[in-house]
Amino acid sequence: MKRAADPLNRIRSRIDRVDREIVRLLDARAREVRRLGAVKRGSGRPLYSEEREAEVIRRLELHRDGRFPYEAMRNIFHEIFAASLAVQRSVPGAPRESVRGHWRSGAAEYVTSLPEYEPGQRRGWHGKREPLSLAANESSYGMSPPVLRAVQRELRRLHRYPDRWAGEATRAVARRVGCSPKEVVLGNGSDEIIDLLSRTFLRPGREALVPAPSFAYYELAARACGARPVAFPLPNCNYSVREILKRVNDRTGLVAIANPNSPTGTYLGERELSELLRGLPQRLVVLLDEAYWGYPTARDFPNGMDWRGRHEPLVVMRTLSKLFGLAGLRCAYAVCPAGLADTLNRLRQPFNVNRLAQAALVAAMRDRRWVARVEGANRREMAYVTTGLRRLGLPYVNSQANFVLVLPPPSGAGLVRGLEREGIWVRDTASFGLPGGFRVTIGVRGENRAFLDALRRLLRA
Ligand SMILES: Cc1ncc(COP(=O)(O)O)c(C=O)c1O
Repeated sequence: MKRAADPLNRIRSRIDRVDREIVRLLDARAREVRRLGAVKRGSGRPLYSEEREAEVIRRLELHRDGRFPYEAMRNIFHEIFAASLAVQRSVPGAPRESVRGHWRSGAAEYVTSLPEYEPGQRRGWHGKREPLSLAANESSYGMSPPVLRAVQRELRRLHRYPDRWAGEATRAVARRVGCSPKEVVLGNGSDEIIDLLSRTFLRPGREALVPAPSFAYYELAARACGARPVAFPLPNCNYSVREILKRVNDRTGLVAIANPNSPTGTYLGERELSELLRGLPQRLVVLLDEAYWGYPTARDFPNGMDWRGRHEPLVVMRTLSKLFGLAGLRCAYAVCPAGLADTLNRLRQPFNVNRLAQAALVAAMRDRRWVARVEGANRREMAYVTTGLRRLGLPYVNSQANFVLVLPPPSGAGLVRGLEREGIWVRDTASFGLPGGFRVTIGVRGENRAFLDALRRLLRA
């Protein structure tokens, strides 16, 4: 058989011609870049401009009608920029300055363009006497005494690395939840587990389905992997299975559900969860984030742990940051199929959960009395706060968590600033796409009273 007659060879020789053309064009670009280097040398202008690189890459995004994926084109152009800088540097007499922002040409653009995480805190306040903070859904009840004692005991062992396998803590979770220790993953807070799942299931070209408005870290973790977060709306602040399912496609790598959701406090009931899991393709990982586990009171609120096995893989995640009052310790756990847990456990840092957090987890998993106490107190205080809001004529969304979303009419838009002047921090929901609203954590009675009193004064003024 003659070589030229082989269709494969014909295509290959056309590709070879295109490659030669690409090299010729790159060479033409390098000649222009050399000229540019000479002009810059004459005028003393910096060789590299991150603004210029960003502009070229943005233009690419706007006009991407080629067949290569956008991420590939972006990476190719980052390389071209790095090579062009080397060409400019080789121009005799070129300044050898280290150029501001030059490192960007070697970094992934999806990382350098990450938006900042906005916590329910104010920068610069840490460690000082703070105003009353009802902005971060922390527990005003603090830590349970047995957990505190366990942490104090462990302080004496901090010269030793933590248990790499977190054996005791893992078994404590498994016992409490009723699963095998092989199905447990521990994290330095839920944030880390979200990261691990994103790194496992997402990459450039993939999509993560995330609720909007919701906890911002799902989106950030997806972006950090080069994946595209696709927001599904919550009509009137409520989950809609239809809105989720219609966004699933073969690029979808992960679906995140915060149950209950923050900042809305609304939830996916048993019927909707069943409908969702039936509608999703098996293989698509579902993260059921039960950060506020222990607070929900609705009869049809699903216990994610009972739903394992109904979808593969389902990851049920809980944190010690909320009900257990350990936000500052950073400790969370997830339960998922053993094979996935094994993968996540190899991906995580070897000592991701520190000694104090492991000790706290063991004690917390045994402490049913504390859970019952905080649950009951939150229920009473939620009723107190929502009754107060109703009396003040402020609309709010019914919540299953330890916070409530308040959506004042336009006349109440300045309430967040007003409360701040009164020394009370609540979470402005503008960054969640709900301008004028705020999320307030349910605290202890004195805090809740101070919040309602301040609101009353502001609304009268
Ligand atoms: C829905 C949701 N998931 C997770 C978290 C963070 O939990 P952790 O402190 O364990 O990282 C929050 C924090 O507010 C949250 O609202």
